[in-house]
Amino acid sequence: MLEGKVVVVTGAGSGIGRAAVHRFVEAGARVLAADRDFQKAHETCAGLPYATPHKADVTRREDIEALLAKRDHIDVYFNNAGIPETVKPLAEITREEWDAVLDVNLTSLFLAAQVAAPKLRPGGVLLQTGSIIANRPRAGLAEYVAAKSGVIGLARGLAAELAPDVRVNVINPGPANTPMLGGFGFDADVAQALPLKRLIEPEDIADAAVYLAGATAVTGAVFNIDAGRDL
Ligand SMILES: NC(=O)c1ccc[n+]([C@@H]2O[C@H](COP(=O)([O-])OP(=O)(O)OC[C@H]3O[C@@H](n4cnc5c(N)ncnc54)[C@H](O)[C@@H]3O)[C@@H](O)[C@H]2O)c1
Repeated sequence: MLEGKVVVVTGAGSGIGRAAVHRFVEAGARVLAADRDFQKAHETCAGLPYATPHKADVTRREDIEALLAKRDHIDVYFNNAGIPETVKPLAEITREEWDAVLDVNLTSLFLAAQVAAPKLRPGGVLLQTGSIIANRPRAGLAEYVAAKSGVIGLARGLAAELAPDVRVNVINPGPANTPMLGGFGFDADVAQALPLKRLIEPEDIADAAVYLAGATAVTGAVFNIDAGRDL
């Protein structure tokens, strides 16, 4: 379905990014698997024929430029890397913590749009991992809520600005079964609190990313993959 397409996945060393690398390779793509932790990106690519690991921090313009330097064109840029935060009251959030969470989760999309989008072939797509927390905020996560809400606004603005050549879409996971989940302060029975009584698996998000990569009629969309959390 995506034979010969060139796909970039960030945050590729773990969780959703790792699953996306596998799914895109299975769909026939050649994948640049980027993470600020090279060793984890390397582990993701082990045994995969068409995936190469790269060290890149999505908050650094020069890292994104270096990642794409040898590519005249790409077809998909999946800006998936993200960090959670320590659950704490608003008054205790430091400026450094605010900046760090906004940088990775939101500013990275701005940088991707400036650096990577010009390399997308016509029909290409910029994909962004958001979070259902933008629709269902939780106390103690102010900067993460702000960042994930911001990516929806920015992505939809970009979808309008970059059409018709480039599509821009967001996937909003609900609580997902990855190492990050522990950082959100959920109760142990978070899955039981969801209407579908199950966590989101990384592959659920990866499947949505592969779909959106080929969905030529879809732009400016926000896909909730959330086991009903938004109901
Ligand atoms: N796990 C959840 O419950 C959940 C829910 C909603 C949204 N999300 C979002 O899904 C995305 C993927 O998260 P995950 O659950 O797979 O987490 P994860 O912690 O398993 O993986 C995140 C990866 O991103 C990498 N990373 C972090 N900062 C980076 C940076 N500056 N540059 C490059 N790589 C960086 C990490 O090294 C790690 O490999 C994130 O955007 C996250 O906010 C996760």
